[in-house]
Amino acid sequence: MIIFPLTNGAKIAQGIAKASDFRLGKIAISRFPDGELHLDFEDDIHGRKVVLVQTMHPNPNESIIELVFAARTAKELGATKVIGVVPYLAYMRQDKRFHAGECVSNHIMASLLNASLDKIITVDPHLHRVHNLADLFHIERKKLSANNAIAAYIRSKFPEANSVVVGPDIESSQWAKTIADSIGFRSAIFLKERLSSRKVRINVTTELEWKGKSVIIVDDIISSGHTMIEAVREIRKRRPKAVHAICVHAIFAEGAFEKIRKAGAKTIVSTDCIEHTSNAIELEPLIAKELY
Ligand code: R5P
Repeated sequence: MIIFPLTNGAKIAQGIAKASDFRLGKIAISRFPDGELHLDFEDDIHGRKVVLVQTMHPNPNESIIELVFAARTAKELGATKVIGVVPYLAYMRQDKRFHAGECVSNHIMASLLNASLDKIITVDPHLHRVHNLADLFHIERKKLSANNAIAAYIRSKFPEANSVVVGPDIESSQWAKTIADSIGFRSAIFLKERLSSRKVRINVTTELEWKGKSVIIVDDIISSGHTMIEAVREIRKRRPKAVHAICVHAIFAEGAFEKIRKAGAKTIVSTDCIEHTSNAIELEPLIAKELY
């Protein structure tokens, strides 16, 4: 088995190689003068299993095309199995036609990968109206969860007696409540109303004794940051000791990191599914295990 990093997968591929017995291969990725993609596997992959590591941020569109082209080329060159490690799977939130004429992107993205890979490994994909990866992917698939790694991080940093884990919306319960329950922390799940892609309202549905508590908000994705910003603001009104933000997928679009900090989050950390300065929770050992 050889692990090839694609453009967004360099760091995580190195981590996977380090956490496993598999070596890193080299694929040259460049552009023609007109912007078209050029790929060249520099290792002989005939008869080998090939792992392509590509997270889908930044540049989700480019990263999909790169993954598809690399996977199809690997097959043409005689790879026996092509596994895509895609820690952040983009387009999963576009899972419904909200307006007539709108593109439902999740299944189109999945159909491209179904036609190219033999197996997909991803981490906490956003499964909301679609509940199972099997509803989108007919190839072999594995959904990993960052929950245990986030739980270990929380336990190592915060005292159980004085902390509350919060999920900013119902969907985040699968992270926030599951994590809190696994380490015996208290949890509270809020309600979110999404008014637009950049505007949300958070309703604090569980009132606790927030004063003096360390409040840790956990969500799968921080994108525009507005979910986290509003959750931080609502909690801060209740005078906790401090508010902390944790996410699996650190998109932080449009200056979201700075905005969340300004809203009053004392720390903001993420897993390394997407490379970002906030990365503090490593998932490579978890991903490496899945390759055996
Ligand atoms: C949505 O349901 C997700 O779980 C996240 O809460 C959401 O993607 C965060 O987006 P934003 O940072 O743009 O509010």
